[in-house]
Amino acid sequence: EKDGYDYFMLKEIAEQPKAVADTLLGRIGTDGRLHLDEVRIPDQVLREVDKVVIIACGTSFHAAMIAKYAIEHWTRVPCEVELASEFRYRDPILDKQSLVVTISQSGETMDTLMAQRHAREQGAKVLAICNTNGSTMPREADAVLYTHAGPEVAVASTKAFLTQLVACYLVALYLGQVRGTKWGDEITEVIEQLAAMPEQVEKVLDTMEPVRELAHSLKDANSVLFLGRHVGFPVALEGALKLKELAYMHAEGFAAGELKHGPIALIEEGLPVVVVVPSPRGRSVLHDKIVSNIQEVRARGARTIVIAEEGDTAVEPYADHLIRIPATPVLLQPLVATVPLQVFACELATAKGHEVDQPRNLAKSVTVE
Ligand code: M6R
Repeated sequence: EKDGYDYFMLKEIAEQPKAVADTLLGRIGTDGRLHLDEVRIPDQVLREVDKVVIIACGTSFHAAMIAKYAIEHWTRVPCEVELASEFRYRDPILDKQSLVVTISQSGETMDTLMAQRHAREQGAKVLAICNTNGSTMPREADAVLYTHAGPEVAVASTKAFLTQLVACYLVALYLGQVRGTKWGDEITEVIEQLAAMPEQVEKVLDTMEPVRELAHSLKDANSVLFLGRHVGFPVALEGALKLKELAYMHAEGFAAGELKHGPIALIEEGLPVVVVVPSPRGRSVLHDKIVSNIQEVRARGARTIVIAEEGDTAVEPYADHLIRIPATPVLLQPLVATVPLQVFACELATAKGHEVDQPRNLAKSVTVE
């Protein structure tokens, strides 16, 4: 069933263009508008929502963090994101106008399930974004948006994550569409670009050979740092999580702006630092700041591994290794920027001789609190 791949994880990474396409299927109309009737939350309820709270664990939590940027930008509705294991124990403020979104591949993660139950008890409407048909979370939620990644066997989440991002963008854009925000034109354009993402992900997959070689060359590193800003920050966290769970290496993700507040002290000769560079278009201030960060860590001896859009020449002088990704709208970049990090972690684990699909101490679905 591995279709000739050595590991399920490799197969699942390769399936991502299809998983993204399947999750978009039927949800973008020929009129260029979104159709999410299946979600069953009346538009009127969505117009009255005054706060969105997204709850998840692990990789699904990183999807939630990215969703916050999209929801607040496109809808101007305040959005909070919280780890499910923290949410329930801090007495969160929720009411009928709160939309709580849970994100879970399995639909059975105990922390997220308990948080979902707690939210419903407080009177909030709950929308479950889930990959597993008929699992507990979608059964108990008020509404469901399924991701169509297909079964994910490897413990490390890859294709489910990309489809969670797609589902989050759909929810954000749909909320914007229903509520009619000032970003109407941008929303129309982004919907078009979202439809083109399967090909963009495919392009990234076609250029992964140097990433594999790089991963093998780093198999004796003690630690790897990941930096990002804006939606690149959760991508950095995701890159670090993948490396921890698969390669059993110390890995940490930081918001690049935090470097000078502490983490820069970690930089020493030869330390690999992966930097997710935001698009030079759009928020170009952030782009320029991150280019300075790359210079700063490199001046202190870091070996810089830079993930940047095609055509971004400003990063070239400071990148020891340059990984190119296609240009996308700013908020959609995680769909392409995450892929090299998945490949990187998988290859590093292989180079170290680890069991890629079944890392030690981990279960695919964490059904205890
Ligand atoms: O099934 P879920 O999406 O609720 O699972 C959440 C986490 O346990 C999961 O994403 C975990 O972090 C993965 N092993 C990460 O690759």
